[in-house]
Amino acid sequence: LPESSLSSSIDMELLKEREIDRSRLQVQQMLGEGAFGHVVKATLAQPDGDNEVVAVKKLKDNEDPNARKALLRETFTMLLCGHHGNVIGLKGICFRDGPLQLVLEYAEHGNLLHLLWTLRTESKLNRTVLVNKRHIFENMMVEVCCGLEHLANRRLVHRDIAARNILICGKGTAKIADFGLARDMYAVGYHRQDRNSDLLPLKWMAPEGLKNEALFTDKSDVWSFGVLLWEVAQLGRTPYPGMEGAGRLYDALENHFRLPRPLLCTEERYQLMLQCWKFNEKIRPDATTIRKQLEADPNGFF
Ligand code: ADE
Repeated sequence: LPESSLSSSIDMELLKEREIDRSRLQVQQMLGEGAFGHVVKATLAQPDGDNEVVAVKKLKDNEDPNARKALLRETFTMLLCGHHGNVIGLKGICFRDGPLQLVLEYAEHGNLLHLLWTLRTESKLNRTVLVNKRHIFENMMVEVCCGLEHLANRRLVHRDIAARNILICGKGTAKIADFGLARDMYAVGYHRQDRNSDLLPLKWMAPEGLKNEALFTDKSDVWSFGVLLWEVAQLGRTPYPGMEGAGRLYDALENHFRLPRPLLCTEERYQLMLQCWKFNEKIRPDATTIRKQLEADPNGFF
């Protein structure tokens, strides 16, 4: 399926079924800003008169055709994804009488990367918070695995699994967010690279993705999940400090170089990361196998 037909492969009726009248939204503050879009906090008026807090994703420049295409693709990816408790939900779409807006489930605790930075600061004052909060982060990683299992079952590759894209909802539930780079695995085929390669999440990308974007599979998301485990154990530090450029990283990975073992994880947990970073994606574990390993060894961090 060529990329251009992705949108037409979804019935326009599907979009209409999920339409939200934009007059029901009342925008509050800015939550986050990306290269092409931003996310704002808003309230969505319910028929019963209640207001539900939501997040609204929209474009910075509605005249930019590439950005519009990207947001439309993100919309369709989320529609294809369907509902799962560990994936940020799509409440609906505003598309009539104005620019395209995605109405998303609101994550009250923000993103995991920010949470890890906060934990790093706290732990400098008091080391015991790490052990006390260990189970929260162990549980979040199991939840991300559940989300990844759902994506793999739906034949979706996220392509940007990283702590910054894991959002934390009420009760501390971790949910996979930001399908901006996600592609339908069947629709990918051999598509043309249409974005500025500087914007790719190189340090989270599996070698096959660094080499050729068209080669991404669910096992590429497993590689990124390994980097996510590393981010948790490193309390939100950036992987491969000082190493920039896709070519250098690819060469290093091909020569068996890997992120070193974080001090704040067990040898077993590091072995799990190394399994995720097998150069040959066929021998990487799938999300279900990883989840079972995490569940069997819930004290791998800190
Ligand atoms: N930032 C980006 N998306 C968000 C969401 N759904 N909830 C809260 N903050 C966000």
